[in-house]
Amino acid sequence: MKLAREKKVNLEPMKIDDLAEVIAIENQVFTVPWSYNIFLDELTQENRVYFVARVDKKIVGYVGLFFFSGEGHITTLAVDPLFQRRGLARLLLIKILTEAIERGLFQLSLEVRASNIVARHLYEKFGFEVAYVRQGYYTKPVEDALVMILKNLNDPEYKKRLIKWQEEIL
Ligand SMILES: CC(C)(COP(=O)(O)OP(=O)(O)OC[C@H]1O[C@@H](n2cnc3c(N)ncnc32)[C@H](O)[C@@H]1OP(=O)(O)O)[C@@H](O)C(=O)NCCC(=O)NCCS
Repeated sequence: MKLAREKKVNLEPMKIDDLAEVIAIENQVFTVPWSYNIFLDELTQENRVYFVARVDKKIVGYVGLFFFSGEGHITTLAVDPLFQRRGLARLLLIKILTEAIERGLFQLSLEVRASNIVARHLYEKFGFEVAYVRQGYYTKPVEDALVMILKNLNDPEYKKRLIKWQEEIL
């Protein structure tokens, strides 16, 4: 059952005040979590957009985007383990992809651990394809990163598919 059908999920720009809650999730889901200062730096730099998902005022997930010269890079995506498998990552991705389209970006990239089958499936569903491998990119444990790319983001057909995917969740 998709959470968004049971409860209202609010997607809002991430604020500095949100960071304690964000980091609590970060520490649970990543072996090399970003620190407060890394998030702070991201939030205060230009060319970045971060959103949090809230359910009953509690932050349950977040996503980030860095963009430059028409290209974007998804910097992070995470969902609180207690709220996973309910469509929240899909909602967050749709939000950031819509934002990327509105900003006129034509291509997005991201890195994912080779063993992260859940995330890989999710990104593939949204049209990302493995472009190349960065060997030994990650630590704890050392592992290859797959660099995945979504091309033709500015194709009007892709925008229509995004609206359809959102309707399937909401
Ligand atoms: C990856 C992650 C963000 C997915 O969040 P989520 O809210 O559980 O994902 P969703 O419920 O939106 O699921 C989206 C799709 O992912 C896949 N998926 C999610 N959980 C899965 C699981 N346990 N097993 C297999 N596939 C899974 C499915 O394809 C699912 O589509 P479906 O709902 O049609 O079956 C979450 O597991 C997470 O925070 N992981 C730790 C951090 C991380 O790895 N981030 C990605 C870094 S690149």
